[in-house]
Amino acid sequence: MSSTTVSANAVLDQIKNRRTYYPLSKDLTVSPERVQEIIKEAVQHVPSSFNSQSNRVVVLFGDAHEKLWDITTEILKGIVPEANFAPTAGKMAMFKGAAGSVLFFEDQEVVEGMQAKFALYAEQFPIWAMQSNAMLQHTVWVALEAEGLGANLQHYNPIINAKVAEEWKIPSTWKLSAQLVFGGKTGPAGEKTFNPIEDKLKVFGA
Ligand SMILES: Cc1cc2nc3c(=O)[nH]c(=O)nc-3n(C[C@H](O)[C@H](O)[C@H](O)COP(=O)(O)O)c2cc1C
Repeated sequence: MSSTTVSANAVLDQIKNRRTYYPLSKDLTVSPERVQEIIKEAVQHVPSSFNSQSNRVVVLFGDAHEKLWDITTEILKGIVPEANFAPTAGKMAMFKGAAGSVLFFEDQEVVEGMQAKFALYAEQFPIWAMQSNAMLQHTVWVALEAEGLGANLQHYNPIINAKVAEEWKIPSTWKLSAQLVFGGKTGPAGEKTFNPIEDKLKVFGA
């Protein structure tokens, strides 16, 4: 157990440092082992309802990462009209040009187990699993960018679910929720605007 106290500003600086970056390169500023270490820590320490630990992750590097975007391209070819396919193909090439992808899943076996065990909250467990998964996505995104990588979050689920499951022998109970593409930054993040904080936050009794 760590007893180190850090200023919230140090945490908030890393949260502010996280942005959406594309395109990304194959140049990793840290080793693949370090990426795995970061993801392991995030998976273990991000909270879940009743400590149910419903989050699952698959990390793809190199050829496996490229395979993901080839699979996605092939599936989209069957959906997007041919005349409009060029921009889609460009996007797919952009993702494939990155170094890796993190696939986030929610294990439905865990969710259903919790529903059976705590019937009173049955309707809430899928929502809580999604919330925990989102916390994990954010944690991994923040942590990878804290080490100098760039990343962007994609959602080609559910159309790629079956092929992904087949390719990497994913258990049938793992439901794909998001794909975080990571790699070297090739330029700055785009401009970001902020609506007034007064519209978003109320404080009472301070
Ligand atoms: C729940 C969620 C879903 C998102 N889905 C996508 C997506 O499918 N494709 C994409 O390129 N960006 C996606 N984004 C990224 C947002 O567009 C981006 O975070 C937002 O514009 C703010 O910019 P920033 O990430 O640079 O702070 C998503 C972000 C969130 C939080």
